[in-house]
Amino acid sequence: MKFLSLIPLCFLLCLCVHRNLKGDSNSRGTDNIDEWGRLHPDPERWPSSKGWKGFKNVADKVHDMDLKFGIHLMAGISTQAYDSNTPILDTKTGKAYEESGKVWHAKDIGVPGRACKWMSNGFMALNVTSGAGKAFLRSLYELYISWGLDFVKLDCVFGEDIDFEEITYVSQILKELKPSIVFSLSPGVSATPNMAKVVNGLVNMYRVTGDDWDQWSQVVTHFDVARDYAAAKLIGAQGLNGNSWPDLDMLPFGWLTDPGQDIYIAFFNLNDKATTISWKFDDLVKALPGKKLVKGLDGREVWSLNRVVLNDVLSAEVAAHGCALFVFDY
Ligand SMILES: *[C@@H]1O[C@H](CO)[C@@H](O)[C@H](O)[C@H]1NC(C)=O
Repeated sequence: MKFLSLIPLCFLLCLCVHRNLKGDSNSRGTDNIDEWGRLHPDPERWPSSKGWKGFKNVADKVHDMDLKFGIHLMAGISTQAYDSNTPILDTKTGKAYEESGKVWHAKDIGVPGRACKWMSNGFMALNVTSGAGKAFLRSLYELYISWGLDFVKLDCVFGEDIDFEEITYVSQILKELKPSIVFSLSPGVSATPNMAKVVNGLVNMYRVTGDDWDQWSQVVTHFDVARDYAAAKLIGAQGLNGNSWPDLDMLPFGWLTDPGQDIYIAFFNLNDKATTISWKFDDLVKALPGKKLVKGLDGREVWSLNRVVLNDVLSAEVAAHGCALFVFDY
């Protein structure tokens, strides 16, 4: 498909790279943390990280290929750091954080009553109001940025796990330490346009839907959500050092059509300028081998409501970061 070649190449390391292979994704005590309670990659999975080198070597390699390097992080603090009650690094002194005559530890800043909703054994919220909470976040991002980050996806901080204070403080740190970083939030369960309006200026992307797994019933819910965020003028609204975008995430690329009679074709333009995207009738025939298709299918583009007829080629100019959705009667 032609539009696939337009996707800006980005290498995003996904979930749980810090958990070792023996624990399941929500098990306690299977993370790799340093003496300051900060998560590092599991050296069994990432041998180049041995000796607390983190993802520096991986990021260098990714940059050599002209790609961007991003990681997925969980907000708050890991249960493992909390259980181990690790001290907090004050990066200004290089020593443990001290305030009001005491050395602060993970148990002084973790909030076990606010566990991450979807990984409740792994992570809990952090008291960002406290000086020690802020010092912990700063120590995390100084470390991760030193590996060469271009993109941060911060999970368990939006939607049903909204933590406005952590989003605000992380945004401030990123702006100060590396303004070119793209800052993305997750998860999107229970996100609303009103919630997005509070954070859009602090970030570049935020999930607005939960996960979907290649089922039409899950995909179809995205359309109403996209409409609501568009109506609220949030698409391309002001963001951190630039613009911000509601993120539908996990939209399946591939062959997926509804159980009814209609045929849907969507174009996504991930390019930062308007781009003409085309699709051939022959591709549709290959995608839907069970259907007897004839040229001249009648349909409409749902956002513009323009009528379209599918003959040899379907072509449309799509706005930067925009999409077009065609529905054909069959
Ligand atoms: C968070 O820290 C502040 C400042 O130290 C403190 O006043 C507040 O009670 C703490 N909140 C929680 C939930 O621990």
